[in-house]
Amino acid sequence: MRLQHVVESQQFTVPLLMELFQRTRRMERIVARGGTEDYHHKVMATLFYSPSTRTRFSFEAAMYRLGGKVMSTEQARMFSSEVEGEQLEDTIRILAGITDVIVIRHNETGGAERAAQVSRVPVINAGDGQGGQHPSQALLDLYTIYRERRSLDGLTIAIIGELDGGRTARSLAYLLSKFERVKIFFVSPPEVQMKQDILDHLDEHDVWYALESNVDRVVGEVDVVYQTRIRPERVADRRSLGGFTIDSSVLRAMKPDAMILHPLPRTVELDRTVDGDPRALYFRQAENGLYVRMALLTMVWGDD
Ligand code: CP
Repeated sequence: MRLQHVVESQQFTVPLLMELFQRTRRMERIVARGGTEDYHHKVMATLFYSPSTRTRFSFEAAMYRLGGKVMSTEQARMFSSEVEGEQLEDTIRILAGITDVIVIRHNETGGAERAAQVSRVPVINAGDGQGGQHPSQALLDLYTIYRERRSLDGLTIAIIGELDGGRTARSLAYLLSKFERVKIFFVSPPEVQMKQDILDHLDEHDVWYALESNVDRVVGEVDVVYQTRIRPERVADRRSLGGFTIDSSVLRAMKPDAMILHPLPRTVELDRTVDGDPRALYFRQAENGLYVRMALLTMVWGDD
């Protein structure tokens, strides 16, 4: 199955996800063997208008592990011709003429879609705006769950944090809506709860969800604790932030076979004492980003 651009999670079907996960397993084996030179003729541009550690480095590592080459700007707002007033569309047309794939993180919601509209090579959204999407992150999140559980049907998950602008949480919710009997608790201070467009989407797809404002109330019944950042300045009652923190008391209440994920970076919402718990899978989750992104690159090029 061929993917043209990767802009939003909704474009993935369950068969497409399963193909991606199968390829991802293959990529894990390829990396264990030292990588491949199969894609030595391919060139990737990583065009980042806002900061990133994991996404940019893992896309670039993915390309190197496939044998390809990378051209990069990690501060496109300073070090691209945008400084001279160049429009995004012109930048993309130029890069599309000289590369085989463009990975873009844009500061505006819809930036990746604008890029895809004018690009003749695949565009991959590496996160757009506040409240846009981050589909490759959600794909690696889902792969991490699938790798552990072997199934996504029947999953119960708590998605915690500042959810209104949470592009990883939004993309993940879209992906989860594709599976059967999924239950989602959105756990967030009320003023930064998940936006209505996602809740409407879940209603349309008959996905069970509940809005909660304390981790303790749900943590004992979920298979996955998906923690995300909360910026204290966005919350009116800062004393309430403790109700959204994963720490040793939350660990004690969690199911023994549950898992903790976090797209990272973290601040205070995920205590470092949690790192040694076998249910803390967020560093493995970040590593999986390499394999998922390798698989995605091969799929946008339509290769077997
Ligand atoms: N998870 C994630 O998107 O991290 P970066 O911002 O470091 O890419």
